[in-house]
Amino acid sequence: MSTNTTDSRRKVTTRRLSEMKQRGEKISMLTAYDYSSARILDGAGIDVLLVGDSASNVMAGNVTTLPITLDQMIYHAKSVMKGAERALVVVDLPFGTYQGNSKEALASAIRIMKESHAEAVKLEGGAEIRESIQRILCAGIPVIGHLGLTPQSINKFGTYNVRAREKEEAEKLMADARLLEEIGCFAVVLEKVPAELAARVAAELSIPVIGIGAGGGCDGQVLVMHDMLGINREFSPRFLRRYANLDEVMTEAVKHYIADVKSGDFPNESEQY
Ligand code: KIV
Repeated sequence: MSTNTTDSRRKVTTRRLSEMKQRGEKISMLTAYDYSSARILDGAGIDVLLVGDSASNVMAGNVTTLPITLDQMIYHAKSVMKGAERALVVVDLPFGTYQGNSKEALASAIRIMKESHAEAVKLEGGAEIRESIQRILCAGIPVIGHLGLTPQSINKFGTYNVRAREKEEAEKLMADARLLEEIGCFAVVLEKVPAELAARVAAELSIPVIGIGAGGGCDGQVLVMHDMLGINREFSPRFLRRYANLDEVMTEAVKHYIADVKSGDFPNESEQY
């Protein structure tokens, strides 16, 4: 029997995540951007698949998450949905599709839900985007908030360093987290904030708090799949635990293949018609 959930193939819903928090069961979340990896992650028992705008970095090779478009996010989300049976699938609203006004935010969220059939959306920010979140929620679309290091604001921050170390920013983060719960978000992601602050937020909120670089006091953890599988060798922040070294595995496999093709060893008699 699987040890990661009590009910290993039952569909994960926002309600189940809330129940998991209530009984102290940790929530596992990873990013996915395509059908094949979504199928593997879902089969392994992941609770939540995030079609993150980090696709801009790890799939498209951009330096930031800012360039990815709504159409591109929908393309990734559609592929992930085909591979996900059990996991709850959440899609990031990309930069520029919700900050301007709440009607645009709703239109973006509706496009994601209608065209990809995903089950929830994630938006970066607190009080500044309250109206957008509320309008999306009013349409019956579940929302995860995202506070702390919000990569879509990298040009404002100027650095990917830990956020909310100072009292003022920590207080704003706490107020934003309370606001997100109050207006009806079903969970909050906290990225790269001190563990002590994240634990306080998780203890105070009744909705799940999912951390990335936010310590063990959160109700769940999220990582970018490419980072935790070691596909992305250049990226090694302190919070990242690598569970595989796929860069090395793939490089070795490809070198082996090239050598076999060059030597004429591949294909052999049994590999041809
Ligand atoms: O886009 C993403 O991968 C994310 C996670 C870092 C939470 O938002």
